[in-house]
Amino acid sequence: MRLLIQGGRVPDPAHGIDGPLDLLIEDGKIVQIGESLRAEGAQVLDASGLTAAPGLVDMHVHLREPGFEAKETVATGCASAARGGVTTLVAMPNTRPATDCPEMVRLVRDKAALTGVNVLPAGAVTLGQKGEQLTDFAALKAAGAPALTDDGVPIQNLALLRRAMQEAKKLGLPLLDHCEDRDMVRSYAVNEGTVSQALGLPGRPAIAEELQIMRDVMLAEETGAHVHICHISTARGVDIVRQAKVRGVRVTCETCPQYFTLTEEEVLRQGTMARVNPPLRTQADVEGIRMGLIDGTIDAIVTDHAPHTAEEKAQPLPDAPSGMVGLETSLALALTGLYHTGLLPLGRVLALMSASPAALLGLDKGTLAVGTDADLVLFDPGQEWVIDKNQFASKGRNTPFHGRTVRGKVKYTISQGNIIYMEG
Ligand code: DOR
Ligand code: ZN
Repeated sequence: MRLLIQGGRVPDPAHGIDGPLDLLIEDGKIVQIGESLRAEGAQVLDASGLTAAPGLVDMHVHLREPGFEAKETVATGCASAARGGVTTLVAMPNTRPATDCPEMVRLVRDKAALTGVNVLPAGAVTLGQKGEQLTDFAALKAAGAPALTDDGVPIQNLALLRRAMQEAKKLGLPLLDHCEDRDMVRSYAVNEGTVSQALGLPGRPAIAEELQIMRDVMLAEETGAHVHICHISTARGVDIVRQAKVRGVRVTCETCPQYFTLTEEEVLRQGTMARVNPPLRTQADVEGIRMGLIDGTIDAIVTDHAPHTAEEKAQPLPDAPSGMVGLETSLALALTGLYHTGLLPLGRVLALMSASPAALLGLDKGTLAVGTDADLVLFDPGQEWVIDKNQFASKGRNTPFHGRTVRGKVKYTISQGNIIYMEG
């Protein structure tokens, strides 16, 4: 199996390459990168006018299977990933049962094996994500879990969290934490502020997130563990991480397109479609997130792809589940919001979505170099298109971005040398 990708622009600052180049792929690996390559008998893919980038690495995805197949399955979630240019993803453990034992890690991996997407199931920190008893971290790691997290259920018990960090450190596993104090946020639907007031609803305050980030940073500093803050959404949260990094704390963080694109006002326009945890915040927070992306405080852009059914999202705002799908819109939203606005160079946006998350998870992914896995996304960075939720491969249609005009369109997704998505 040989595939020659001709004439794509390869913006890979790590290797000092930036220009139209050819890539030759053999047996799932990149074997040659250069100008005007020749390869007798190879399948040729004309990539002129397109950007050839490393396949995206999305380290925060809810695939829902087992237990919530009406929302998404591993197969539909992976088809959605492929359509969005994502070739590697970390699957969150809040399934039913939770991914809290090696058998469950293997089950998710087995289901994903046929999809062509590299799925890495994160292990739960506590049994059943109940926040009471630690799981067997070593066994989860041996089964293929790249990280530990109770995402969806913030960890409240500090003695337990501290012990989790001590154990995670021994094994070299990062702990991915959803930071929101449960007593402060309950099951509330929106940010605490002008919008919650306008709606007459109790809100989820920014401080509920910031206190837990502070707590995590201090525990990381004390234990030496690598803590990764999930979907950071507030300006002050970014600032806490920024200062901790200066002190040399092993803390990293991620954000999502919704947090650098939308404010809480979106809830007034779109109701439950804009309900997500942590909630959409203020314009000042959006600017704080952008600053964190610009100065390198934020390490990764992820989706927190969280599909829910139309029936669930049709409930009144206080009752509907939180979350939005994101796999098929993340690259376009990042290019539109960060690159086409001039905030970040193209290579930086792509690194935030591939090389950087891969590096912090210790994965040999996210760069285009001879000898690496041939995971690529080929996209037209300038093409304008309108997001249409009805075109999604995901079962989830819950996006606040339906109807939005964006720039940057995925044309091909290639995973280990196989074309797993092709436009049209
Ligand atoms: O909005 C969210 N939805 N945030 C989470 O942390 C969990 C996710 C889900 O599982 O639906
Ligand atoms: Zn979360």
